[in-house]
Amino acid sequence: MNLERKKVCNSLNQSLIVFALLMAMLACKSDAKCSFKAIFNFGDSNSDTGGFWAAFPAEKPPNGMTYFKKPDGRATDGRLIIDFLAQAIGIPFLSPYLKSIGSDFRHGANFATLASTVRLPQSSLFVTGVSPFSLAIQLNQIKQFKVQVEELHSSGKLNLPPPDIFGKSLYTFYIGQNDFTGNLASLGISGVQQYLPEVVSQIASTVKELYELGGRTFLVLNLAPIGCYPSFLVELPHNSSDLDSFGCMISYNNAVIEYNNILKQALTQTRKDLPNANVIYVDIHSVMLELFQHPISHGLKYGTKACCGYGGGAYNFDPRVFCSNTKLINGKNITAIACKDPYNYVSWDGIHATEAANKLVANAILNGSYFDPPFSLHKFCDIQPIG
Ligand SMILES: *[C@@H]1O[C@H](CO)[C@@H](O)[C@H](O)[C@H]1NC(C)=O
Ligand SMILES: *[C@@H]1O[C@H](CO)[C@@H](O)[C@H](O)[C@H]1NC(C)=O
Ligand SMILES: *[C@@H]1O[C@H](CO)[C@@H](O)[C@H](O)[C@H]1NC(C)=O
Repeated sequence: MNLERKKVCNSLNQSLIVFALLMAMLACKSDAKCSFKAIFNFGDSNSDTGGFWAAFPAEKPPNGMTYFKKPDGRATDGRLIIDFLAQAIGIPFLSPYLKSIGSDFRHGANFATLASTVRLPQSSLFVTGVSPFSLAIQLNQIKQFKVQVEELHSSGKLNLPPPDIFGKSLYTFYIGQNDFTGNLASLGISGVQQYLPEVVSQIASTVKELYELGGRTFLVLNLAPIGCYPSFLVELPHNSSDLDSFGCMISYNNAVIEYNNILKQALTQTRKDLPNANVIYVDIHSVMLELFQHPISHGLKYGTKACCGYGGGAYNFDPRVFCSNTKLINGKNITAIACKDPYNYVSWDGIHATEAANKLVANAILNGSYFDPPFSLHKFCDIQPIG
């Protein structure tokens, strides 16, 4: 409760009869406060709320089946970590910057798009399915967004935030997974490791540029243990001696840990360079690893098996036919369909987490124990329950 509100509440306490007093206290209590008025998010499919499908419409069910009851731009059955974060600080789900119809940017914008990378995509990569909206493009987009907010805010017609929003926002990053995995099959772990420091330094320099735009609080999510993902278990070369007791690939998971350590170090340096900024490393890796290793302890049933896929078996993932797609395989039209109980799975489609897993991760990070350095969102906001 801020001071002004306290004053109002106090004067109400003194002057009103008991019934009115109770009502006023209820009103004061339920009116959630948060110093963060908006979120600006940068990322890939792990946090895309509809940007990619706005640019390249083609989304099909069963995406969105659990929460939205229809495809809603997200590569999962329901909400993403970024959606839960928005709910927790009491703002609407983020509109994708690229979505021209029905968007509302008063509480931020989402620059994330499916298949985005940190590094500039090579044109040859683009044809193999890497998004053109790399981190550098996403940064250009928020710069343009800011220019337009400053030019247009007085028109009153557009769903834009006030120009002072940039200092009162959370800046979130959940990107780098495609840089990491995109070339693993062709270059191997050591090949990919050549350019990972460059990926990390681009994330750090983007944080600095956003600081110049007025940003002061940055949450940078690390990479999840992709060695436990059904798709990579099927697609990446490994032998059984590379599997740990949870069925995850040791070598790839170790490489993720190394990447995360480089990221953590770079952010430590970035923090030193930026006065009065909160540059927070968010260890979702630990939470996801725990879910893959002990799904049952967290109310789930399946770790390394996809809900939406084809082929059944240990992984229920077939790289020839992704979730929701139909392909002619051995003379038969095969469709990769969803399980009936996505709430029992960590993995939605072999690549992306289910809403159930995202919610567990969101709850864990909202607790504060996965922030480095320690950071209490509760000090800045009345955190709303994420139902
Ligand atoms: C399994 O992979 C490891 C590490 O890549 C390698 O050292 C080992 O020789 C492989 N074993 C077999 C049976 O291929
Ligand atoms: C597979 O589906 C396509 C598109 O709907 C259709 O044209 C084709 O005849 C089908 N093939 C078989 C073998 O069912
Ligand atoms: C953290 O979250 C878990 C559930 O995800 C909850 O049981 C626990 O009470 C929370 N702890 C704090 C300090 O909020």
